[in-house]
Amino acid sequence: MAGDVRHFLDISDFSKAELRQVLDRSQAMKAARKGQPKGMVDQGAPLKGRALAMIFQQPSTRTRVSFEVAMRQLGGEVLVISANDMQLGRGETIADTARVLSRYVDAIMIRAKRHDHLMELAEHATIPVINGLTNKSHPCQVMADVMTFEEHRGQVDKHAIAWVGDGNNVATSWIHAMTRLGGELRLGCPSELPPDAQAVDWARAHGGKVKVTTSAEEAVKDAACVIADVWVSMHDTDAAARHNMLKPYQVNQTLMRQARPDALFMHCLPAHRGEEVTAEVMDGPQSVVFDEAENRLHIQKSILLRCLGAE
Ligand code: CP
Ligand code: NVA
Repeated sequence: MAGDVRHFLDISDFSKAELRQVLDRSQAMKAARKGQPKGMVDQGAPLKGRALAMIFQQPSTRTRVSFEVAMRQLGGEVLVISANDMQLGRGETIADTARVLSRYVDAIMIRAKRHDHLMELAEHATIPVINGLTNKSHPCQVMADVMTFEEHRGQVDKHAIAWVGDGNNVATSWIHAMTRLGGELRLGCPSELPPDAQAVDWARAHGGKVKVTTSAEEAVKDAACVIADVWVSMHDTDAAARHNMLKPYQVNQTLMRQARPDALFMHCLPAHRGEEVTAEVMDGPQSVVFDEAENRLHIQKSILLRCLGAE
């Protein structure tokens, strides 16, 4: 990876102090904009003259719109490109794509089908590359999730958080985040769909309080937050088998009652009511899912400022 380029590839790449700086700045920027029209540029237009290219190999609503609005609020320019419309889709290498885009724009955000594509892009780009979700991780999402939890309940290091369902890409970023920031993470996943073993090993080697169980009830017991995600992620192909394996892991009122009475419910969205979560929980008083969605915008701005060196 090019030496001092400030990529944002995975939460595990950062120290607790660096993550806290990103989180604290996003809270401050959110507070400073409260009540202002969303199209208004922030004071000082800190990224004026900078351009971000966004490449999508998979669909997106939140990541696409929040990054685009974030860049505009910071005074910068943004280009959105579907990977299918690029020569990348016809066999141009990722390395050459990285070299070419580095001559046109100041940063790249990519939603990649494969994590190794993200890493290859970062290796050959001379500008910052941001991970907008891969099959392995979703760091920008989990930074927004941590921000959301902390807005409601204070710093995560004093709490136990439960992940229920597939041990997927978002779960991996939660493992990274809780290990770096402190606090306990319990993952209740079916034995066929465990969290990424490399992430769990990394967490244990770095003092993370990460517990893996196959029992959803054990994971959520007295937890301050219960998190669910879709049963079938964008890169998954075995939808029918996953539905069968994950049915017992639905987050419903019975499961929520095992957590603390004031437990939050989180979900990165898109959600499937009646599958991984019931409508009652998703739309109930404990749910903060739309705060999470909003916070994608605020955390994106803080991540962009970190990557583009406008400290
Ligand atoms: N949560 C999330 O990343 O949503 P999108 O797929 O809509 O970007
Ligand atoms: N785990 C989901 C997250 C979507 C934002 C997926 O990868 O499809």
